[in-house]
Amino acid sequence: MVNRLTSGEGRGLLQSLPPYDERTAMALGERLRADGFAPELVAAALTQARLRQAAVAKFGADAARMLLTQDGLEQATRWEVADHHARRFAAAGVSAVHDLGCGIGADAMAFARAGLGVQAVDADEGVALVAEANLRRWPRATADFRRAEDVRLPSGKDALTVGVWFDPARRTPGVADISGRTRRVFRLDQMSPDWDHVREVAARLPVVGAKLSPSFPHAAVPHTAEAAWTSYAGDVVECALWWGPLARTSGRSAHVLGPRTDALVTEDMAMGAPTEFATMPSQGMYLYEPDRAVIRAGLTGALTNATEGRELASGVGYVASRQDVRLPWAKRYLITAAMPFNTKRLRAVLRDRGVGTLTIKKRGVSIDPQALRRQLRLSGDLEATVVLTRVGSVQVALLVRQL
Ligand SMILES: C[S@@+](CC[C@H](N)C(=O)[O-])C[C@H]1O[C@@H](n2cnc3c(N)ncnc32)[C@H](O)[C@@H]1O
Repeated sequence: MVNRLTSGEGRGLLQSLPPYDERTAMALGERLRADGFAPELVAAALTQARLRQAAVAKFGADAARMLLTQDGLEQATRWEVADHHARRFAAAGVSAVHDLGCGIGADAMAFARAGLGVQAVDADEGVALVAEANLRRWPRATADFRRAEDVRLPSGKDALTVGVWFDPARRTPGVADISGRTRRVFRLDQMSPDWDHVREVAARLPVVGAKLSPSFPHAAVPHTAEAAWTSYAGDVVECALWWGPLARTSGRSAHVLGPRTDALVTEDMAMGAPTEFATMPSQGMYLYEPDRAVIRAGLTGALTNATEGRELASGVGYVASRQDVRLPWAKRYLITAAMPFNTKRLRAVLRDRGVGTLTIKKRGVSIDPQALRRQLRLSGDLEATVVLTRVGSVQVALLVRQL
């Protein structure tokens, strides 16, 4: 079917389809079949149109020229992050990359766009065909149906100019969960290619990178690699391991990306940070909330250092300080009231302030925001944000205004 969609009649059909609309898709399908297109071709083209529309969020305008599968799209690296992967390989001085488990080829396409040769493989035949179609634009990029474990990798001097990229599948092919998606796996030995294979290749070759789950355990970070937790627009999307010249720093790092953000937080920046707050932060102080990638990387200490502040309680991530510091990797709030958490007291303060709309943020406490909202019986015209968290072991409520 991939070939039928990328040549002749199928290609023309796919290009002629209007933007996908669930409400009109059935009628459109009927019309196309009545026009003489084969039912299976119509079904495949409409599926592509639907997936392309869903893919815009990850791939922008390029989605319109890609072939996709549902699983492949869900697992693919979004453009901005894939571009960063490619930049690391380009900066490491390699001329080509082996992409060992390429999926529909989002990372592979980024490597090709960066001017690198790409030898991609995937153990799923249909997916490899899709990747091959997506890579056709680049003469130095190929995708084949093969297992990563069966690829002959370069050795000796040749290995210096060729990188290896892993983005192991963290799903069980063919095993669907309740929502119809393929079931996710969480253990390192369940991913495919498995963690032992990734480590074995990283020990043998000099230029190796691997994309792993954001829940990758700190204890498993190899001492020879940089482990970079990356977020895009606040969502942590991966923990990538970078060996050899691909590493930009040693140990753990956080890479905070967004439409206008590109910031790096490293272990060096977190060195020697003081730990917890001893007393309640007061009104007029600033409250900082690090990007989730910083928290996942265990680098909240970089925030306490940068703001000369202290974390409210070890592990909650919120930092209070008297300093007003702007950082691309942390949200900044002004504390307008601070009190030990007590529903009656909070209700009285919110009523005095005329707060009818409340945003509840919570971390490190087991308060049910919905139940609390009902108990607060809010009425009034104004909006406010409350942060429910802990100072040491004491539950607190902080009214804040985002700056
Ligand atoms: C997470 S996806 C890769 C996504 C890709 N980086 C992208 O951005 O589009 C992982 C892929 O690895 C493939 N795979 C799983 N085990 C493999 C193996 N042993 N060898 C090669 N490919 C494998 C799966 O079929 C799946 O397509």
